[in-house]
Amino acid sequence: MSRTIIAIIPAAGVGSRMNADRPKQYLTVLGKTILEHTLRIMIDHPRISRIIVAVGKDDPYVSALSVLTHKKIQLVEGGETRAASVLNALEAISEENAWALVHDAARPCLTETDLNKLLEINDEHGAILAIPVTDTIKRSDELGDILTTEDRSQLWQAQTPQFFRADLLKHALDNGLKQHCVITDEASAMELAGFRPHLIEGRRDNIKVTRPEDLALAEFYLTRKI
Ligand code: C5P
Repeated sequence: MSRTIIAIIPAAGVGSRMNADRPKQYLTVLGKTILEHTLRIMIDHPRISRIIVAVGKDDPYVSALSVLTHKKIQLVEGGETRAASVLNALEAISEENAWALVHDAARPCLTETDLNKLLEINDEHGAILAIPVTDTIKRSDELGDILTTEDRSQLWQAQTPQFFRADLLKHALDNGLKQHCVITDEASAMELAGFRPHLIEGRRDNIKVTRPEDLALAEFYLTRKI
C-alpha cells in the first residue's frame, strides 16, 4: 500500500532569542513571512498530501496569512513545548500508512533536493536531515569556562525535516512526554523508544532562524533559491 506523507509544521513557539515584537515565524523576509516561505515548500511538493500547522492558542498573527486557507493546510492548537505541539498535530492524522514529515516553521531555506533525499527513506527507524559538525566543540563547566574538548568525528547537528511513520512517532512522543524526558526534536523521542533514525546529510543553508543576525542570512539564501 502506498504511504501518505503529511507535513507537520510546529509554529507555536514565541522565539524569545529573536528579541522581536512577534514570534520569529511572522517576521518578514522578501515580502513574505518566514512561515509563508516554509509552507510554500510543502504546498508545492507533489508527494505531500496535507500540511498540519500547530499554532499558539491565542496567536493574533495567523489569521492575516491568506496562504493558510490553502486546501492542503489544517491548523491545530500548539502545546507547551515543541514536542507537545507536534503530538497535537499527530492526533489529527487518521490516514492509513501515514508518514509525518516534521519541519520547523523557522527553516524557510530548505531545498527540494534535500527534501527528496529524506523522502526516499522507508523503514521504521525513520530519518532526519543533519550536517556533520565542522567546528571544534567545547563542553563548559558551570562558570562558562572550558571543561573539555569533544571528539567531533561522530557528531552531527540535527536539522529538520525529520521523517517518521506517524503512528510510531506519536507513540514515542506520547511516552517521552509522560516520562518528562527532554525532547528537543522528534528523533530524540524515537531514540528513547529504541529506534536508530538514519542521518541524511543536508545542506548548511537549511538554517533555523533563531537570532536577529539569521534574518539577513535567510534573505540571502532565499534570494539565491528564487
Ligand atoms: O524554539 P525552537 O527554535 O527550538 O522551536 C522550533 C520550532 O518549534 C519552531 O518552529 C517553533 O515555533 C516550534 N514550537 C512549537 N511549540 C512550542 C515551542 C516551539 O510549535 N511550544
